[in-house]
Amino acid sequence: MTGGSLPGVDVREATLADVDALVAILVEVAGEGRWIGTEAPVDTERRRQRMAEDVERADAIVLVAEAGGAPVGELGLHLARYGVAELGMAVAAGWRGRGVGRALLAEAIDRARAAGAHKVALQVWPHNAAAIALYERFGFEREGYLQRHYRRRSGELWDAIIMGLRLD
Ligand SMILES: CC(C)(COP(=O)(O)OP(=O)(O)OC[C@H]1O[C@@H](n2cnc3c(N)ncnc32)[C@H](O)[C@@H]1OP(=O)(O)O)[C@@H](O)C(=O)NCCC(=O)NCCS
Repeated sequence: MTGGSLPGVDVREATLADVDALVAILVEVAGEGRWIGTEAPVDTERRRQRMAEDVERADAIVLVAEAGGAPVGELGLHLARYGVAELGMAVAAGWRGRGVGRALLAEAIDRARAAGAHKVALQVWPHNAAAIALYERFGFEREGYLQRHYRRRSGELWDAIIMGLRLD
């Protein structure tokens, strides 16, 4: 499956010039408190450093989705030595539901395959119906379930679904 191209949205590899904007998206999505592992308040300096390292590392791929010249979404892949590409992604709230996630994920799967990965893997909260639907649309399967696994800053323990897309 491919995501097709969305008019006005361009997916490309991130550069160091994108780091601030990508961390800003992360901070915004973390602030929603429901979708990603990262929670507010985000240590932005540390995240900028990590994002810059990821942009430059040979074993990571950072993609940015740009609309009207501004980043509106991001996707990171970490390529483990044993052949699995770990994926995380986020689209700015105002841009959801317009194909940005689909465009990012299609490109990421192509890149993971080109990098020699045999699988793309991720974890998602069970309540994140939009993300689960997106992943399943691309053929990801539910491979496992972590019960009361992640402690949130509130003290709550959240479950997570492990999903994988086999590329071999
Ligand atoms: C999950 C997320 C990345 C999806 O990105 P998006 O740009 O909104 O998704 P798209 O518009 O490309 O939609 C692609 C597919 O995802 C699914 N989808 C997206 N939003 C959905 C929703 N609200 N409900 C159900 N399915 C949805 C659909 O299958 C859709 O395909 P369709 O348009 O052909 O029906 C986005 O909602 C997001 O960034 N959420 C907050 C951060 C997050 O959850 N990250 C993932 C953590 S695991």
